[in-house]
Amino acid sequence: MLLQHKVAIVTGAARGIGRATAIMFAAEGASVAVADISLKEANDTASEVRKKGREGMAVFCNATDGKQVSDLVQKVVANFGKIDILVNNAGGLPSTAPVEDMSEEEWDSVVDLNLKSTFLCCKYVVPHMKARRSGAIINISSLGATSPPSSNVHYHSGKAGVLGMTVDLAVGLCPFNIRVNAIIPGPIRTAFFGSRLSDDVFFAELGKTVPLGRVGAPEDIAGAALFLASELSSFITGEFINVTGGLPLAPPRARSVPAK
Ligand SMILES: NC(=O)c1ccc[n+]([C@@H]2O[C@H](COP(=O)([O-])OP(=O)(O)OC[C@H]3O[C@@H](n4cnc5c(N)ncnc54)[C@H](O)[C@@H]3O)[C@@H](O)[C@H]2O)c1
Repeated sequence: MLLQHKVAIVTGAARGIGRATAIMFAAEGASVAVADISLKEANDTASEVRKKGREGMAVFCNATDGKQVSDLVQKVVANFGKIDILVNNAGGLPSTAPVEDMSEEEWDSVVDLNLKSTFLCCKYVVPHMKARRSGAIINISSLGATSPPSSNVHYHSGKAGVLGMTVDLAVGLCPFNIRVNAIIPGPIRTAFFGSRLSDDVFFAELGKTVPLGRVGAPEDIAGAALFLASELSSFITGEFINVTGGLPLAPPRARSVPAK
């Protein structure tokens, strides 16, 4: 058991990468707070956590709202007594437009979803970790932050900001034995891809652009998060782990997302 007696908050854990992470953490001994705006699915994830014999708590929380994040943290501390691990996973790309057509509102909402949410969760969780001189924070960025397959300036800027936040917080939190690392996922088959989620042909084509020959599964990211959350990585902070099937090794033209 890599996370025996640990307590984790995973944001955006109702489905996809967050859900797989919550369930894998529970299988390794952690109690998990499943925070999401989709309470019905979050309850389902929490129930899977409990099936692993751990405590699972679903909490409605819009991670872009400071009051809701503050309430989430208070509830988790009241219920579990501490927070050892924070996975800032809530995020996504709900809309896109060329930069000249992008409204300020669209920019703000996508940057808030991917970057401000990470800031807010750290802001409210860090004091509890500092008091215990211990913690692991894992931020979910994107390969698009450094090597975008197509232009989505709000999303990629937000995810690049997540990398900046990771190294900044890592530096500031070393004296408190709080490690802060980021995961850079490549394409992972989740609802991130919207209505294409059930399109096997789309994912088969996308997989051909990946050196390892397939798109990732949510568990591929969960495994890296488990490593970064556990004592196996106790001397690692301020790092970014690519979990991309080798995509940065592929020639640039091979990497673009195939047309539907
Ligand atoms: N799937 C990919 O290919 C891919 C690639 C790179 C990065 N990522 C990142 O991985 C993370 C997880 O995405 P996923 O692929 O599992 O997609 P997903 O759409 O399956 O999961 C996203 C989850 O976040 C929740 N969420 C959305 N807005 C929220 C908010 N304001 N507050 C709290 N929860 C909210 C959703 O309800 C959902 O449960 C995201 O940050 C995404 O940007 C995904």
